[in-house]
Amino acid sequence: MTTTPLSPVPGTPSLIPTLPGRYYTDPEIFRQEQEHLFESMWFCAVRGADLAGPGAFRTVQVGRENVIVTRSRSGELRAFLNICRHRGARLCGEESGQVRRTLQCPYHAWTYDLDGTLIAAPNLIKMPDVDRVAYGLIKVALREWLGYAWVCLAAEPPSFEDTVMRAAVERLGDAAAIGHYGAEDLALGRRVTYDVRANWKLIVENFMECYHCATIHPELVEVLPEFADGYAAQYYVGHGAEFGEGVRGFTVDGSEGFARLPDVADDQDRRYYAITVKPTVFVNLVPDHVILHRMFPLAADRTVVECDWLYAPQVVESGADVSRSVELFHRVNEQDFAACERTQPAMASRAYREGGVLVPNEHHIAIFHEWLLERLGGAGGGEAEA
Ligand code: FES
Ligand code: FE
Repeated sequence: MTTTPLSPVPGTPSLIPTLPGRYYTDPEIFRQEQEHLFESMWFCAVRGADLAGPGAFRTVQVGRENVIVTRSRSGELRAFLNICRHRGARLCGEESGQVRRTLQCPYHAWTYDLDGTLIAAPNLIKMPDVDRVAYGLIKVALREWLGYAWVCLAAEPPSFEDTVMRAAVERLGDAAAIGHYGAEDLALGRRVTYDVRANWKLIVENFMECYHCATIHPELVEVLPEFADGYAAQYYVGHGAEFGEGVRGFTVDGSEGFARLPDVADDQDRRYYAITVKPTVFVNLVPDHVILHRMFPLAADRTVVECDWLYAPQVVESGADVSRSVELFHRVNEQDFAACERTQPAMASRAYREGGVLVPNEHHIAIFHEWLLERLGGAGGGEAEA
């Protein structure tokens, strides 16, 4: 694997400006992000195994839309806008649940099958001209990868391979490398949901850099000593941070973890890799488990993060104690989100009107900012300019 730094390019000044503060507070910029990012790109919604059988469902907020993901009678995952076609009532009010065979609207009882077709409505017999497919639920594109259902609200979804899967190749420098962890076959050992009072971009930016690691992540730096130097694994292409000498596993105290996942390669062993899949997913790879964060940006200053710890099925089935393993990144999450919440109020301050600066080992965050500005309508902010 190569270890090319993502930046800085030669001749880059040592300090690069960040985005101005309003990008983290302005509801209009957040609306543009909903439109141009969350409602236009592939969005990681649900772990497939959470929907164990036909009729299991989960509802998620994707941009300004609420989406229901369910499993059809033939066992495939399906996604629909969570809206009844009659007069628009929200079909499923719960975040998750299980229906027997159909989805029935609680307002006037229009009833849809698990493929979204309208199959019954009171007095429908008197309305023979109603096209049951045309008045079926509105389908949302869905792909499965790493064991998750990714949905896309765009009329013409972008290439999943180019816009989602390529992130892993760009980070790991090898198309097959992420496959060695077999994330789609792993079992959920623990899930923690964090309600973070901060803009989603602060969470992304924080995840991308490790300048803060020595200050706020004492346990992580014990396990990954090179993080004390402030260079995140994501600063380089193909680089995995190496476990410290004497560290036996990726656990809160460096104690033994679990057996290496069967296809993890020798050069991936005793290393931690981190991947950002824009806009809302972080994938963390260690030899014996995978940690995956899904963000749900709900407002300019509020982001719900669901974090899953995934292990070999036999680890979870055996009832093994995963708590030391979970505790390491749970602490990292709490430390990171506290830092983001500490930063959020300043985004509205006059002190941050022109933004702050990125030091050299944060320069790759500028690439994220350039990408964001481009998506929102051209470098310089385009229509996002106040
Ligand atoms: Fe759903 Fe009337 S709004 S049945
Ligand atoms: Fe951190």
